[in-house]
Amino acid sequence: MRQSVCGDQQRRNMFAAFECQSQCPFSLQSSMSKRTRCDDGCFDDRPHPVKRHRSETEENVAVAELRADACGRLALFLDRLCQKYCGLLTAPNGMLGRWICCQQMFSKSSYSDPVLRVMHLQTAHESFVRELCHEGIAPESAQRVHAFFVAAVQREASRLHATKRVLSSGTCPRRVQCTRAAWGCPNDACLQLYLSPRPSSLHHHRTVRINEWHLEKLRRLYGLHTLNSGVWTGEANALFLQRVWAMLMRYRLFGDAGCQAALPERCFEMLRASLGVTHECYASPLNCYMPTYCSAYADTDKFFGSLGSFLDFAPLEGSFQCNPPFVEPVVAAMVDHIVELCAQADEANKALSFVVVLPRWYKSPAHCSISSSKFTRAQLTLPPGTHVYKHGYQHQVPHGYRTFGKHTTVFFVQTQAASLRWPVSISHLHKFAECFRSPVLALA
Ligand SMILES: C[S@@+](CC[C@H](N)C(=O)[O-])C[C@H]1O[C@@H](n2cnc3c(N)ncnc32)[C@H](O)[C@@H]1O
Repeated sequence: MRQSVCGDQQRRNMFAAFECQSQCPFSLQSSMSKRTRCDDGCFDDRPHPVKRHRSETEENVAVAELRADACGRLALFLDRLCQKYCGLLTAPNGMLGRWICCQQMFSKSSYSDPVLRVMHLQTAHESFVRELCHEGIAPESAQRVHAFFVAAVQREASRLHATKRVLSSGTCPRRVQCTRAAWGCPNDACLQLYLSPRPSSLHHHRTVRINEWHLEKLRRLYGLHTLNSGVWTGEANALFLQRVWAMLMRYRLFGDAGCQAALPERCFEMLRASLGVTHECYASPLNCYMPTYCSAYADTDKFFGSLGSFLDFAPLEGSFQCNPPFVEPVVAAMVDHIVELCAQADEANKALSFVVVLPRWYKSPAHCSISSSKFTRAQLTLPPGTHVYKHGYQHQVPHGYRTFGKHTTVFFVQTQAASLRWPVSISHLHKFAECFRSPVLALA
C-alpha cells in the first residue's frame, strides 16, 4: 500500500516533468552535425535534437514480428551449438540478448537491419568468447561457437532482408489490436497487443503484454513528440499502437532483464533536485523517467522522444545520468565517450556533469579508467543487498523493485566548471544511497 502511494506521487512528478519540457535543457556540441548522419546519407544539423533522427526508415510491424521469429531460431541454434561444442545443456541465460546489446554500440547507417547485424568488433567478440570461457569452456570451442553463430546471424539477416520488401508493399496491411489481458495484475491493469488478422496458430511471441500505466506514459510521450495536431483521431490511435508494437517487439530481444533495470524514481528526483539532472543517457521509452533521454533504437523510439544512441550524443554542457546495460563492451564505450566529452567541455570551460552507475568491476579497464579519471570528483559504493533497481521488465510486471545482490558503484564525473556549479557533498552521497534503498526500507 505504502509502495503504491509513493509510486502514484512519483508518476505524477514524472508526467509533470514531461509536460514542462518545451526546450532542450542543455547545449549540444557544434560537432553534433558530424555525428548525426542519417540513413539517407545526409547530415542532419537541425537545432532541435529531438528531430535529428526523423529520416530513419520506419519499422514495419510485420518485419518486427518476423525478426522476433528469427531471434527465436537463433536462440535455439545457440543452445544447440553450446550443447554440441561445449557440453552445456543450453547457452548461458540471456546470452543472445547481451550479444544483441553489444551490436547496438554504434549507429552505422550501412547496416540493413537494426538488430541482426554483425559488427566485427573485437571487444564484442571477446566478450562472447569470455562468457563461454567463464562456464569452463575451452577458448577454441568458444571461438568455434562464435564463428558458427555469426554465420547463422548473417543467414537470418539476409533472409529477413529478402522478405522486407515484399512485406512493406503488402496489400493487406496488418493492424495492431489492444485487448485487456486474460491474466490480471493486482495493481496495474494489464493489456495485450497483437497483430490482426491473427495468424491461425498463435505463437507465444505474437502477443505482447504492457501495463496500462506504461501505455498511458507512452501515449503522453507520443503526444508531446509526434502527434503534431494534438488530436487523437482513430487513425492517429492506430498508428500510435503500431509504433508501440514495433518498439515493444524490439525490446523483447534486447539484453536481459538486468540490461533494462532502472534506478528507483526517488534517485532521479534527488538527482534532479540536487544536481540539476534532466536527461538519462541510457534508457528506453519504457524505462525513462527524465524529460529527455537517449536510447538504443532511434528508429522505433524517436516517436516517444528518444534522442538516439548516447554514443552519437555530444552535449557540451548540462547535467546527465548514465545507467548503462551492465555489459562490458557497452560500459567501456560509454566511459571512453564520457571522458572525451568532459575533456572537450573542460577545455571550453563548460559545466558538464555525469552521474554514472556501474557494477563494481574494479578489475575491468573501464572501471579503472573512470575511477582514475581527473574528472571523477566522488564515488559511492553500495554493498550487495542494500539497494534496489526497478525490474527490467517494469512495463510488464506489477511490482517493480528487485534487491541487487552485487556491489554498485556510482561515479560523479564533472568538469571543473560543473564541480563549482553542482558540487557533490557527503550529504548528497548519503541522500543518494538512501534513495537507492527500496521505498519500503526508506520509509521504515
Ligand atoms: C540499465 S537500463 C537504464 C534504465 C533507466 N533508464 C536508468 O537510467 O536507470 C539501460 C538502458 O540503456 C539502453 N541502451 C542500450 N544501448 C544504448 C545506447 N547506445 N544509447 C542509449 N541507450 C542505450 C537500453 O535499452 C536500456 O533501456
